Amino acid sequence: MIKIHKAKVEDALEIKKLLHKTWTATYSNIYSPEAIETVISEWHSLKFLKKQIQDPDTFFLIAKDGDIIVAMCNASLTHESKAVNIQRLHVLSNYQRQGIGSMLVIEVIKSFPNVSKIELEVEKQNLRAQAFYKKHGFKSSGEKVFEVKNVRMECFVMEKTV
Ligand SMILES: CC(C)(COP(=O)(O)OP(=O)(O)OC[C@H]1O[C@@H](n2cnc3c(N)ncnc32)[C@H](O)[C@@H]1OP(=O)(O)O)[C@@H](O)C(=O)NCCC(=O)NCCS
Repeated sequence: MIKIHKAKVEDALEIKKLLHKTWTATYSNIYSPEAIETVISEWHSLKFLKKQIQDPDTFFLIAKDGDIIVAMCNASLTHESKAVNIQRLHVLSNYQRQGIGSMLVIEVIKSFPNVSKIELEVEKQNLRAQAFYKKHGFKSSGEKVFEVKNVRMECFVMEKTV
């Protein structure tokens, strides 16, 4: 049975391994292996993940099947505290399409009862994730480019009013 928990610092290594698997599976037809490694090393370092898990302004969830972490999601308030930004949502390939991503998004939205908007960025070629967010009522509201060293990622901004 899948259970949702708040992430603990000691979960950071397993979360890092999960992100490595999901990033490789999701983006290997979009980016080169070198580009993926560049982004992963910048965005998913153990130090950075631990810092985010401990950050009181970040809501960091994991989904577990027994002892195994099978999905994660983290979100935080934007600077003006008027919206929540979902920064990551990742479900292991063999656990996808079983409602786990939906459980996490619903839990995140419930955890910020005082905001009126949830927003996120999704890679332009990540059509599966776009389908997922559209199913949850998100609409495209703009575009954003992330530059990580020499890697350029073009994203759609999607948002949902709650
Ligand atoms: C996007 C993601 C988080 C969805 O999580 P999930 O647990 O598979 O989603 P759920 O089972 O809760 O919801 C399924 C819905 O999502 C959409 N969806 C999920 N996988 C899909 C696919 N392969 N093709 C089309 N739509 C898909 C559909 O709307 C689906 O509804 P349906 O089954 O009724 O058609 C998951 O696929 C994932 O982790 N992908 C890799 C990482 C990623 O892209 N994260 C988003 C970064 S912004």
